[in-house]
Amino acid sequence: MMHSWLVLGLVVAAAAAGYDYRSQPDLYYDTWWGPEGKEEDTTIRPFRIEWDKKDIDDLVYRLKNRREFVPSLDDSAYRYGVNTHTFGFWLDYWANDYNFTAREQYLNQYPQFKTDIQGLGIHFIWIKPEVPEGKINIPVLMLHGFPGSVREFYDAIKEIQKATENKNFVLELIIPSLPGFGYSDYSNKEGLGAAEMAFIYKNLMNRLGHEKYFMQGGDWGSLITANMATFFPDEIIGYHNNMGVALTDAAFSMMSIASLNPSSIMSCDVVNRLYPLKNTFEQLTRDSGYFHVHATKPDTLGISVSDSPTALMAWLFQQVSICTRKANYDDPEGGLHRYRPEQLLDNLMFYWMPNKGPTSFRIYSNTFNLRNYHLGYLNVTTTVPTVVVQASDEIFYMPPSMLKTKFSNLLAVDVLNDYGHFLAFEVPDVFASNFVSAVQRILAFNNQNMNVRQDKQDFRANKLSNIRQLVRERINSIRHKMSNYENNENPFMY
Ligand SMILES: *[C@@H]1O[C@H](CO)[C@@H](O)[C@H](O)[C@H]1NC(C)=O
Ligand SMILES: *[C@@H]1O[C@H](CO)[C@@H](O)[C@H](O)[C@H]1NC(C)=O
Repeated sequence: MMHSWLVLGLVVAAAAAGYDYRSQPDLYYDTWWGPEGKEEDTTIRPFRIEWDKKDIDDLVYRLKNRREFVPSLDDSAYRYGVNTHTFGFWLDYWANDYNFTAREQYLNQYPQFKTDIQGLGIHFIWIKPEVPEGKINIPVLMLHGFPGSVREFYDAIKEIQKATENKNFVLELIIPSLPGFGYSDYSNKEGLGAAEMAFIYKNLMNRLGHEKYFMQGGDWGSLITANMATFFPDEIIGYHNNMGVALTDAAFSMMSIASLNPSSIMSCDVVNRLYPLKNTFEQLTRDSGYFHVHATKPDTLGISVSDSPTALMAWLFQQVSICTRKANYDDPEGGLHRYRPEQLLDNLMFYWMPNKGPTSFRIYSNTFNLRNYHLGYLNVTTTVPTVVVQASDEIFYMPPSMLKTKFSNLLAVDVLNDYGHFLAFEVPDVFASNFVSAVQRILAFNNQNMNVRQDKQDFRANKLSNIRQLVRERINSIRHKMSNYENNENPFMY
């Protein structure tokens, strides 16, 4: 979970106190994230998940040969973290009942590919639909987050296909693993955070032949896609976000000013999703310890989750638990039975088998640091037409008034009275119908507002002055190498 936007402040303060990431590279279209001297393979290669028999045996051996748990405190539910009195169920299931052969087949049910972008092999599901007469094809980039994987979307894919049957468009779904997650490569270099990943996915979409596309994101996927909407607004037809947050100065000012009278900036029925701030801060402090570890010492934690599937499962399940329902804290089972065991274990397999636990944590430290903060892009608005959906237990809530400080064309905010942070995973049908309806609403908006989106002259001038100011006033580092993009001198322009 991106979690804890407020913790951003904490992390930045911590960064100011000591971390120095100044050696990290700036935002470039062609930053090389791969090993030096690696030959880049830009072909699009079919990919299948294949679990080695010896890796499966090794996993089962480790699960069965763990030490006895130190018992959790009496009646402590999930308040001290994962409860060892109930946790054994999941370990036993993984070792004894999870059918590796059947699950491998299941995970390979959609066409998958790999291609190298900026030196890293990027894994993605790519579903190209038939395009019947009279329908248009819309490519969609869908991005997962932590502790997720492309598995979050498996059930939703079918629901999306169903929901588009009677529409005048079909959706071409491109669902990549983040760098350092699942079957995408990790980088050996410092600095591959959510802003840098925005460039990787722009390059991926362009590689697949798409200059105009939709985006969908939650958790880290939501931050990466928000960055793409900021950097490449002319490429993005529309944007659906299930963890809408605006990390702008204006939103944070509103948040504190409005604490005196919250209903001045939001409707009364959602006030308690954010106010009193004391509650929000308490809850974030209680649940966001993992965030600070990931953002500061990811590799230390990485050692244990890479060596022990039990440790990996405990660490990831804790995040699944708290982000699914805040009240799971008080549930001895952590609310995990809301998911089917196969769902949760499939997702874990994307971390265990390719050994990506440690590298997945680094997205936090590579994003939440002073260098990124100084780049200032979080504070830049985007005109990309956006629809936000808000589950009742989403980890952080912002009302439309705040979201508009980032997404100036915020067409709708759909407020749900149930569900949690992993919307596609938890309720694929709800997610899919909301997403498809967002696509529909955005297409209608674009049809009616061609001038808004197509008045490139104004649009670009506007954007450019915004960015120029940013570049001039803040730092001189946002430049990109001219190699493939000779006509552009600023990475925020396509
Ligand atoms: C596991 O799944 C495979 C493939 O579906 C099946 O042939 C096999 O019988 C299953 N094994 C068990 C123990 O159920
Ligand atoms: C953030 O953006 C606003 C509005 O564009 C601007 O007034 C403000 O100075 C910016 N803040 C920073 C720190 O650049």
